[in-house]
Amino acid sequence: MSNIGSYEERVKNFNWKISEDELSYNAGDVINIGWYCSDRICQMGKADKLAMIWEGLGGKEKKYTFDDVRIKSNVIAQFLRDLGIKNEDRVCLFMDKIPELYFGCLGILKIGAIAQPLFSAFGDESLHVRLENAETNTIITQKKHVSKVRKILEKMPYLKHIVVVDDDGRKPLRERELAFNMDEAEDVNQFEIFPTKAESPSILHYTSGTTGQPKGVKHVHYSLISQYLTTKWVLDLQENDIYWCTADPGWVTGTSYGIIGPWSLGITQCVLDTGFGADSWYRFIEKNKISMWYSAPTAIRSLMKAGDEVVEKYDLSSLRHLASVGEPLNAEAVIWSEKVFGLPFYDTYWQTETGSMMICNFPGMKVKPGSMGKTVPGVTGGIVDPETFEEITEPNKGGLIAFRPGWPAMMRSYWNNEETYQSKFKNGWYIPGDKSTIDGDGYFWFMGRDDDIINTGGHLVSPFEVESALLEHESIAESAVVAKPDMVNMEVVKAFVTLNAGFKPTEELELEIMNFIRKRLSPLAMPQEIEYLEKLPKTRSGKIMRRLLRAQEWGEEIGDTSTLEDD
Ligand code: WTA
Repeated sequence: MSNIGSYEERVKNFNWKISEDELSYNAGDVINIGWYCSDRICQMGKADKLAMIWEGLGGKEKKYTFDDVRIKSNVIAQFLRDLGIKNEDRVCLFMDKIPELYFGCLGILKIGAIAQPLFSAFGDESLHVRLENAETNTIITQKKHVSKVRKILEKMPYLKHIVVVDDDGRKPLRERELAFNMDEAEDVNQFEIFPTKAESPSILHYTSGTTGQPKGVKHVHYSLISQYLTTKWVLDLQENDIYWCTADPGWVTGTSYGIIGPWSLGITQCVLDTGFGADSWYRFIEKNKISMWYSAPTAIRSLMKAGDEVVEKYDLSSLRHLASVGEPLNAEAVIWSEKVFGLPFYDTYWQTETGSMMICNFPGMKVKPGSMGKTVPGVTGGIVDPETFEEITEPNKGGLIAFRPGWPAMMRSYWNNEETYQSKFKNGWYIPGDKSTIDGDGYFWFMGRDDDIINTGGHLVSPFEVESALLEHESIAESAVVAKPDMVNMEVVKAFVTLNAGFKPTEELELEIMNFIRKRLSPLAMPQEIEYLEKLPKTRSGKIMRRLLRAQEWGEEIGDTSTLEDD
């Protein structure tokens, strides 16, 4: 029996109080995600239950019970409090998927500070703009990433502490750097958790914008109410499940459903801190008897590409439910998974801004391969006309996805950017910026984004950020960045550039520019191809027309070009 039972019944009788009651929360109470994910689970008699099975490079394994999670997060919380970090200070987590990242997140929340997780593959420039925007007070990182922080230190006077969690004392630490060893620190059994309330800020996730710098999406502790219930009803996590969320907590899936969801339910989860590999992933499932697996379409397509024979080498019979998020899950991938695993991947749709799942395929519901499913109970959603923002009720007609605001995990603002935040609301709807149709049965079918943001392997990349970074290269005069189709990643970054006088459009230069972006931004943002042009297509007012270049890449109709510059 699935946790949700009948989707239709749940929708009919829905009230967020269901989740509040299960979490014994009453309006006005203290609510702290750090406490809910550790102390409360221990108080419920699960102190000795495994919370995390972690595996790193070379098969190195570590296991932690919920009591360990409670104590380790207390240790980090105490360390941060002793440093003088206060509630609402921003503390950045800049680490690989090591245990300190997970316990650090809860520790930050326990002192009422705001956790700012950033993907550890970010280069110095990506890191800088996000730390600068949030005026981050402290960064927790690893030896291998500290050089990126050192590079930008001068530009960050507000950054007071750089905490290195794996310092071995071999090289002297520099100004503002501190060593901290979670395993050698003395246990902190009792910790006075900061009494955060429903609207106290919790996590600040940065997401890419089309035109400006990345935006800090501010979430609050009350988000737990949505995250807990959707984990229970959509991922269907049950007491004896062994859960694996493949997402990195540098992105929202890795916190909402890679920390908060499973641990607030007291579920054992696995973390694999190595890169992708079909063999290593299947082996991980077999070894840990993973039963519920939440992943992303790019990973599924990569597994498909690796072939069915690899699947057959492993015993994957422990799997009982699969789900996916982050980018369009094509019908072929769902059909393939049904064939090889005997289970379809259940697609889920949501965003950093929504904080929790919005449109999903629910256990027990008929899966239509290629569809994102239906709105989550408690969420009112539909599609609206892009001009009038009036709801479109006619089936199979395209429009913008829209949700009525009010679910608990909704972002509360963009950090220091109220104007952009307000611009996301139209005619009483929150507009996430995606296009879809809805069929006669209420299923959503994703059509595409309504902006130029590139979704590569489930990670959003801003063309603006890449274009700006390209201009920093001495050879580049102008740049335009668009998505280019890709079999596995769906989209990859492609750059069109014009060169400054004296530079030749060579292959060496192309490689040099690619590397330049990889280092400054990240491997995800690195263009997979650079095309040299004599001049970029522009409107009469001088705006570069990405739309045209994108259409060319996708073999689409170019559309209205009447505003194009005359030759
Ligand atoms: C896209 C990730 C198609 C969409 C949780 C959205 C999807 C953006 C799906 C959010 C899906 C997410 N099908 N597209 N099931 N899920 N997207 O903020 O464009 O990193 O707006 O959050 O990814 O990406 P974000």
